[in-house]
Amino acid sequence: MDNWINTLRLVFLGPPGVGKGTQALMLAEGYSLMKISTGDILREAVSRETPLGLQAKAFMESGRLVPDGVIIGVIRERLSSPDCPSGYVLDGFPRTLGQAEALSKMLEAQGTPLHRAISFEAPEEELIRRLTGRRSCPRCQRIYHLYFHPPQQKDQCDVCGEALIQREDDREETVRKRLRIYETETAPLLKFYGEQKILSKIDGRGSIEEVFKRLLQVLKDRF
Ligand code: AP5
Ligand code: MG
Ligand code: ZN
Repeated sequence: MDNWINTLRLVFLGPPGVGKGTQALMLAEGYSLMKISTGDILREAVSRETPLGLQAKAFMESGRLVPDGVIIGVIRERLSSPDCPSGYVLDGFPRTLGQAEALSKMLEAQGTPLHRAISFEAPEEELIRRLTGRRSCPRCQRIYHLYFHPPQQKDQCDVCGEALIQREDDREETVRKRLRIYETETAPLLKFYGEQKILSKIDGRGSIEEVFKRLLQVLKDRF
């Protein structure tokens, strides 16, 4: 068994729709790694109307990033909690240089630096195809696609039976805005992690299983 995988501290980078959440879930379920997805945390906060959700809602719906101060606080709380496991994958965080620097400081202080930042890549027209056909489960956060990964029963979550929804921010106009923001705010992190010599790039094209094989190969080659 590849037990060592559940001790890795990973960051998943890549544009909206490339498959970060899909791959993070497969890794988490197959290798008992904890998946920490800031998008999921925020969406849940919005639906519960917590103070965090009320702060984040307008930013998310319009495709803009939630301010660094807010999101860094969320991650700090998760990673400093006594039941935070030794291995995890951060999906959708960090997203700005400010977040990346704050994360590095936090982990350095704990003596638990990141092992690897993995960047998934795919051409823009593929990202748009994936995002505009995405359906998600609002209860258990599972991710589906109308054509590429349909649920067994139409519009219904395979795992919990909940009716699937289309995310507010998956309308084509908002998708394009998120892609622009990725380029200006998040793409610079490739240089940041490249200089630290912990960056791996993965081709995100092809089927979900093909991409997962590449991911496992990168982890096996590195550790
Ligand atoms: P977040 O939820 O993180 O959204 P995102 O980064 O825009 O990424 P997505 O979830 O859209 O894409 P993904 O890469 O996870 O793709 P998925 O696996 O779903 O953030 C949402 C918002 O929250 C942000 O806009 C911001 O407002 C806020 N936020 C979150 N984190 C923040 C932070 N750190 N700082 C500030 N603000 C923050 O796959 C997409 C679709 O493709 C699915 O339908 C899937 O089934 C399908 N698919 C996946 N892989 C394949 C494949 N290989 N072939 C075919 N189809 C595939
Ligand atoms: Mg996601
Ligand atoms: Zn579900």
